[in-house]
Amino acid sequence: MTDRLAALSELARLIETASGIVVPAGHLSFLGDAAGQRAAATGCSDLVAYVQALAAGRLPGEWAALLPHVTIKESYCFRTPQHFVRLAEVVLPRLLGRTGASRRLRVWSAGCARGEEPATLAITLAEAPALAAWDWLVIGTDIDQHALGVARSGLFSGRAVAQVPPPLLERYFARRGSAFELTPSLRRRLEHHAVNLVAEPLYVPHQPFDVIFLRNVLIYFRAELQRRVVAGVTRALAPDGVLFVGPSETLWQLSEELEPEDLGDCFCYRKRKPTAHGYAPSSTRTLPAVRGAQAGTIRHATPSPERREASERRRPLPDAPAPAPSQPPLGTRERVEVAARLLAANQVEAAGATLDEVLRDDPTNAPAHVLEGLLHDLGRRPERAIASYRAALYLAPELFQARLLLAQALRRSGNAQRATGEYRQVLSSLADGRAREVEELAAIPLPDRDAAAEQARRGLQSHH
Ligand SMILES: C[S@@+](CC[C@H](N)C(=O)[O-])C[C@H]1O[C@@H](n2cnc3c(N)ncnc32)[C@H](O)[C@@H]1O
Repeated sequence: MTDRLAALSELARLIETASGIVVPAGHLSFLGDAAGQRAAATGCSDLVAYVQALAAGRLPGEWAALLPHVTIKESYCFRTPQHFVRLAEVVLPRLLGRTGASRRLRVWSAGCARGEEPATLAITLAEAPALAAWDWLVIGTDIDQHALGVARSGLFSGRAVAQVPPPLLERYFARRGSAFELTPSLRRRLEHHAVNLVAEPLYVPHQPFDVIFLRNVLIYFRAELQRRVVAGVTRALAPDGVLFVGPSETLWQLSEELEPEDLGDCFCYRKRKPTAHGYAPSSTRTLPAVRGAQAGTIRHATPSPERREASERRRPLPDAPAPAPSQPPLGTRERVEVAARLLAANQVEAAGATLDEVLRDDPTNAPAHVLEGLLHDLGRRPERAIASYRAALYLAPELFQARLLLAQALRRSGNAQRATGEYRQVLSSLADGRAREVEELAAIPLPDRDAAAEQARRGLQSHH
């Protein structure tokens, strides 16, 4: 291994320790460019000297300058709009009933990027007539100081406000050249603070919170860290509070303390009531994903009885890839390909184990999430399959086969309307040239472009 590559791997490790963010091996060259710039800016002779100085704590303030290069700040106002609709229609009325005496509400947007989510929360609260005389505050936090600076400015790009309904855009934003400025009456209700979610103990000003949005942040962390961050965030949640995560994220198996609540077109999490024997079992309003819990999951460290049984029943085909201990370690892409070949050869258990390792090393590998979805589909865990396909599409929206699989899984689980939306997107992405195949899964007979278009059209027809 060259000095440069070793230094980059060490830098990736330091970044993960400091922030939880996994830098996949395939992104090391990109990290090298950013680190090269930072080495020059800090007067280090080269990348190796920079990483050594960072590791030794000889570059005060450098983390604040480096992290903006590695954080993914994709966000916009009213992203996943159903969360804000259900917050206003279901969650707030209930909370107001309970916290009525204090007339005080605290909301936290954890991992708030450039302030798009806290601004949307503030608009949602400002639009609730029952909150008019209340003392309410939205706290946006992020690890990225640069993003927080933008959030504090109250200025948003045209893209960031493109999904704001026109009457709300008119009411809460003023045009400033090509940007949009949030009105001062809302900015007074917003605070932004630097908070690293992996810090222990986790402390956030104004806690405990009645509502927490922790959306599209966990997906970049490894499972062990997700568990720890969720535990910290749960401690900051008021006893009656609710937590929202991103649509491709699930707290299934990450927290015993939280119970999903089905809100119709989305869900949130509430704290379970502790009992003398630990936590109370789920109420009858659990998510389908939780109902499938007995079926096991490929993320189990030890195979579920179901998977053990399935793998024992299936005889491996003679051409299944054999382990090759003397070969150099495989890269992520190759390991996903091996997992796909194992699945194609009916070695479900081995495919799941390989995939577990891949996702442990790179939780943001979209093809691995597609394969994870296929394994869940095979194991008849439709809600888990849907979550996996959604995770894949969150990371790589152009994977048309993943979208087709999502549409089919949605239709099988009775969500005809959402399936229709996904079928339409399959067709539009194929038509406008954005669509891309999941090349890593070539061993599995997934539909090609023509077949996918045909299946999507049939899916749409069967709905009408
Ligand atoms: C994709 S954005 C999500 C923004 C917003 N929540 C949404 O869903 O639109 C992820 C954000 O998490 C932040 N983040 C990543 N690691 C973090 C950590 N350890 N502590 C706090 N924020 C973190 C990133 O800086 C980034 O702004």
